[in-house]
Amino acid sequence: MSNNALAILAMAAAYVQQAESMEEVSRFGIRRARSSDISLLESVERSAAQLFRTVNLGFLADGPTLDPAVLSGMAKSNHLWIAVNDWDQPIGFLGGENFEGNFHLVEVSVAQDFQGRGVGKALMSNMMDQVRREGYKTITLTTYRDVPWNGYWYAKMGFVEVYAQAMGRKYLDIMVQEGKQGLDQASRCVMMKAL
Ligand SMILES: CC(C)(COP(=O)(O)OP(=O)(O)OC[C@H]1O[C@@H](n2cnc3c(N)ncnc32)[C@H](O)[C@@H]1OP(=O)(O)O)[C@@H](O)C(=O)NCCC(=O)NCCS
Repeated sequence: MSNNALAILAMAAAYVQQAESMEEVSRFGIRRARSSDISLLESVERSAAQLFRTVNLGFLADGPTLDPAVLSGMAKSNHLWIAVNDWDQPIGFLGGENFEGNFHLVEVSVAQDFQGRGVGKALMSNMMDQVRREGYKTITLTTYRDVPWNGYWYAKMGFVEVYAQAMGRKYLDIMVQEGKQGLDQASRCVMMKAL
């Protein structure tokens, strides 16, 4: 076989390998959380938060992750959704809880290598379908208004900013608590979506 033919074969093999690995990372499923998932979610959340380094919010990447007891509570209420790869390993999660009669989204995180492939959107749409069936009329959350994968991302899914004051004392308490954790209150907002 000529050198040219060998080079073409090598290029074709490399192309197939690349295509296979791209397909591999693009496939995912969404399922309910199991207790065995809980200890694996810290690394997912930590990996996801690395994105904040790109907007000078690196302290979030180094900050505390969700309390496992809180995650377990959400799992027990069936309000913790896990995105998994082909091997059923968590690559993302979304958790929330009843808060003042609204379904309040506490955290959505997708591990760095899997971001921008629709995993976050799929977690959101699974959550919205389920909580709508459960009878919730509204979903709330707090986020950074001007960060592309926060306020803008939620706005694309129909969330709108609402005044924290109008939402009541408990929402103001969340904002105050976030301020104590170093989150700039002027950049944060409450968002809401009617179902
Ligand atoms: C927010 C987050 C969960 C989104 O998950 P994801 O799987 O990357 O998002 P998706 O692939 O479903 O995103 C879909 C849309 O968001 C856009 N998007 C995703 N990441 C983006 C980024 N870094 N910058 C700009 N747009 C982005 C995509 O372009 C896409 O837009 P389209 O629907 O118009 O095509 C993920 O970015 C993350 O884990 N971020 C760190 C943790 C975080 O900020 N959580 C939210 C706390 S309030």
